Amino acid sequence: MKISLILACAGKGERANLNKNKLLVPINGRTVLERTLSVFLSCGMIDEFIVTASANDYDEMISLLPDGVKVVIGGNTRSKSIKNALKKTTGEIVLIHDGARPFVTERIIKDCINGVKKFGSAVTAIPSRDTVCQGEQVIYDYLGKSGLYSVQTPQAFYTKDILNAYAQAGDKTFNDDGEVYKEFYGNPSVVLGDINNVKLTYPEDFEILKKQTDCLVGVGFDCHRLVVNRKLILGGIEIPHDKGLLGHSDADVLTHAIMDAILSALSLRDIGYHFSDKDPQYKDACSMELLEKVLKMINEKGYKVKSISATIMAERPKLLSFIPKITENLANAIGLEKQMIGVGATTLEGLGFVGREEGICAQASAVLVPEMN
Ligand code: CTP
Ligand code: MG
Repeated sequence: MKISLILACAGKGERANLNKNKLLVPINGRTVLERTLSVFLSCGMIDEFIVTASANDYDEMISLLPDGVKVVIGGNTRSKSIKNALKKTTGEIVLIHDGARPFVTERIIKDCINGVKKFGSAVTAIPSRDTVCQGEQVIYDYLGKSGLYSVQTPQAFYTKDILNAYAQAGDKTFNDDGEVYKEFYGNPSVVLGDINNVKLTYPEDFEILKKQTDCLVGVGFDCHRLVVNRKLILGGIEIPHDKGLLGHSDADVLTHAIMDAILSALSLRDIGYHFSDKDPQYKDACSMELLEKVLKMINEKGYKVKSISATIMAERPKLLSFIPKITENLANAIGLEKQMIGVGATTLEGLGFVGREEGICAQASAVLVPEMN
């Protein structure tokens, strides 16, 4: 049996106060529209996807949606938007869902489809936890809580039934699709929803999404040759020593490893790719300035650094007393608290080129999290 989805997205999102349709604002790197749609796309139970869009948002929505998703221009009320979309629906069963409910689950989707097959309709709802009352400034009636539900979406029906109900409803506006069905068919049956299946409506509702932090991890490594007549710079701090590191830039091996870790976390290649040692503009470049550019790159992708962990491999000089200064300098440059940067140093026990004091190496890992919007 062909199953269609209508995702209601043609509202203005005025109460969310985000200066545009709340479904089109990226939060932690992804819009609510993409988040909600992805649950239905990946559940494998839906054959046809229809999104309602206002004329204003049409182009932007098209650019976000994968091929094969139909976009229908909505109306100035939710009921009108759904009515328009139902005319384009070809599935036998239709699930109607608010684009503003990204926390819908596969379990709810499955129960809605089964609910229609068994009872002819399925309205997602949860028993009211709170006592419900009527009133404005004063309460003038207590409705209790037993037998009272909060209604959510999806709400699912046989397409021909809900299409018919909406046709009979004319221009009358309803709270939701179940109410239209009730008016012209009979009592819709209930599917248990989920307390987390909230409709993102007010600014504070969006905090839930902001707290969801998908983190990314990257690693980086670098090595430079030790020579006389060069400065030794580690983490932007000049360390007194009889030798320094050789390189096209200031050869700050630690900052280089950190930059590579940050870039790698977002699959943005490496510093050699972005700041070629053949490019004269990077001759003697200050690596802390390059770090600033790297931070800007990840920022543009919607991410920021959460923490850094790094090790310097050097036989000499002893770095112990310089570590706090290096850490502080990096923390300031990256915009992190000091405790989010761990820098260690080790000798290689006289072994290999590091042991022979021919070079210094550094290794780093970086944790990136989505930037809050
Ligand atoms: N919706 C729609 N067409 C409309 C109005 C609303 O398709 N004319 C959609 C919204 O995009 C939303 C869902 O219906 O996903 C539920 O509506 P609501 O939460 O009220 O969203 P908005 O109407 O966009 O928000 P507001 O009322 O704060 O302006
Ligand atoms: Mg609204």
